[in-house]
Amino acid sequence: METFIEEMKRYLGVTEEDAELMRKLGPRMEKYLPELAERFYAQIPLHPNAFRVFTGGEAQINHLKQTLQAWARGLFRGVYDEDYAAERYQIGFRHVRIGLEQKYVISAMSIVRSYLYDCLLFEFPASDQRMRAAHALGRVLDLDLNLMCESYMHATLENLRSINEHLERANRELDEASRSKDEFLALVSHELRTPLNSVMGFTKLILDGLTKNPEEEKELLREVFSSAQHLLGLVNDILDIGRIEAGRVALRLQNMNPRAAIESSVALVAVQAIEKNLKIRDETLEVDLPRIRADEVRLRQVLLNLLMNAVKFTRKGTVTLRAVPSHPPGFLRLEVEDTGVGVPQGKRERVFEKFVQANPSQARRQEGSGLGLAISRKLVELMGGSIGLTSGPGGVGTLVWFTLPMVEEPGASESSSQQQGVVSTPATS
Ligand code: HEM
Repeated sequence: METFIEEMKRYLGVTEEDAELMRKLGPRMEKYLPELAERFYAQIPLHPNAFRVFTGGEAQINHLKQTLQAWARGLFRGVYDEDYAAERYQIGFRHVRIGLEQKYVISAMSIVRSYLYDCLLFEFPASDQRMRAAHALGRVLDLDLNLMCESYMHATLENLRSINEHLERANRELDEASRSKDEFLALVSHELRTPLNSVMGFTKLILDGLTKNPEEEKELLREVFSSAQHLLGLVNDILDIGRIEAGRVALRLQNMNPRAAIESSVALVAVQAIEKNLKIRDETLEVDLPRIRADEVRLRQVLLNLLMNAVKFTRKGTVTLRAVPSHPPGFLRLEVEDTGVGVPQGKRERVFEKFVQANPSQARRQEGSGLGLAISRKLVELMGGSIGLTSGPGGVGTLVWFTLPMVEEPGASESSSQQQGVVSTPATS
């Protein structure tokens, strides 16, 4: 198998005779190399982009004058093997890395070529010898330039490959985004259709006078109202998650005491819990709540989502709200535990995705938007926390937890703030 350098030499016509001639020429050309470097570095700093690559001042130029002479000696060593190819490739790559355009390297080679040809005039007065030397040197310089440019080609290929990978990834992400958008739209229209159908169906029954008595009519109107309420909740949640995912939600993060948000959420949910004969226990009262960094309105929204969910999916027993400071360190962990139907192991990760219900049959009856947990996760993550779900103690019920960053400052806990006169009252149980 012909190697790259052999193929290149065959292609450019570089022969063993040329190499032999270069070897002979080497010692005679040595005296011209300092002048080559002078002329080279007198001219190329005039290149349009030179100011960008010559950042090292006089010292760099002096160093480069030496490296260029070393490079030229390589030409006259007359050994054009793999090592030579690798060395020339690396030199080329140094120019790629400094962002020098290939065309300047190519044009600079003409400085080298014309000077060395002039030198041959002094070394070979006889024209036939000079022509033979000039042709051999010309082929070796072509070989050298091709090896240097090889690194440019590879760099360009690499660039194209990474642009292509980037484009493919962007394409995949676009496909994925449009697929999940279509899926979301399909789910949304499905979710919207159910309550809309019941609003229209029941209204038509009433309008057509198909109700037996005013009591039945009232019952239907109640159904219409709760479907409309559900519809509104769904539309709000859809808009909310749309805004959050589009990054159009401005959080008002502040150092705050979560007590007020907890109290008002528990109070709101307590009404529904009592209607279902459920106990609601606020164990956060037993804890010296630390100050946290959060958006109070969004914290309340998350608490309401989780507490409402717990009440919705619990037929009997208790819904408990718990607070665990510094769990993990630097975070306040809030837990909503219920004695409800629980979430199958396989679904625990997915319940935070849009419109994923842990118990679809249970959910239909309960009229959930299927977006509450998805919205809660986005909001908690936007506030720098995390959220998760496990089964309750003994595998009964569900425990949803989330964390929010605590405020690391002296007097940041509830008791020290109380000394400053902030009052909190116990929640309903
Ligand atoms: C035939 C054309 C050229 C040859 C043979 C050549 C040769 C070299 C050599 C041998 C080195 C040292 C590489 C090393 O240290 O390993 C080098 C580096 C450098 N060359 Fe060239 N060069 C050429 C064209 C140019 C041109 C046109 C410019 C600028 C306009 C340029 C700017 C530089 C700079 C800035 C460095 C230092 C790179 C670094 O620090 O990594 N060269 N060149």
